[in-house]
Amino acid sequence: MPLPSLCRIVPLIVVAIAGTALAQTASRGPAPFTQAEVTAGHADYAGYCSSCHGETLLGGGDAPPLGGAFFSSDWSKYSISKLYQFVSTAMPQGLEGELKSEEYSDIIAFLLAADGAKPGTASFDKNSNITIGSIITGMPAPAVINAPVSQSGAAQ
Ligand code: HEC
Repeated sequence: MPLPSLCRIVPLIVVAIAGTALAQTASRGPAPFTQAEVTAGHADYAGYCSSCHGETLLGGGDAPPLGGAFFSSDWSKYSISKLYQFVSTAMPQGLEGELKSEEYSDIIAFLLAADGAKPGTASFDKNSNITIGSIITGMPAPAVINAPVSQSGAAQ
């Protein structure tokens, strides 16, 4: 049997390398929510969610992490509207569905930003079909998570 000729192997390698480079440079555009919503959502998260899910979203007890690999493997394939539906009907545990629509929206904007999504100029849309995996990086964003929590937007 003849050895495979280099002419057949080299193009395959070139295609493989080019594909990897493309995947790495695919950039994420701005997400459909604003920085103001993220800031308000951080305060609401601190008031309603952090007691179980942790100030830094790492989870605790029965409550799963809401950041990093755990969150992205659960939610990447779903739309923003699906996450809104879940959170606004199932959370906060013990007060399910009790928050205002705006509070849920802001909290989800905060969660997505904490997972690397970049705020833009469009306001949060709870019916958005945008896939979560197309806006988050799956890497926690320390600048968002550790930002000072503004008191004015906090739970009253
Ligand atoms: C009293 C504790 C408690 C509070 C407060 C709470 N959660 Fe949860 N949360 C849980 C538990 C326990 C689970 C896992 C069981 C489940 O999915 O219902 C969970 C699951 C979740 C999940 C699904 C995670 C995944 O990937 O499976 C999300 C998203 C979530 N919570 C968001 C929130 C948000 C946002 C708030 C605040 C508005 C909140 N939770 C408040 C206890 C809590």
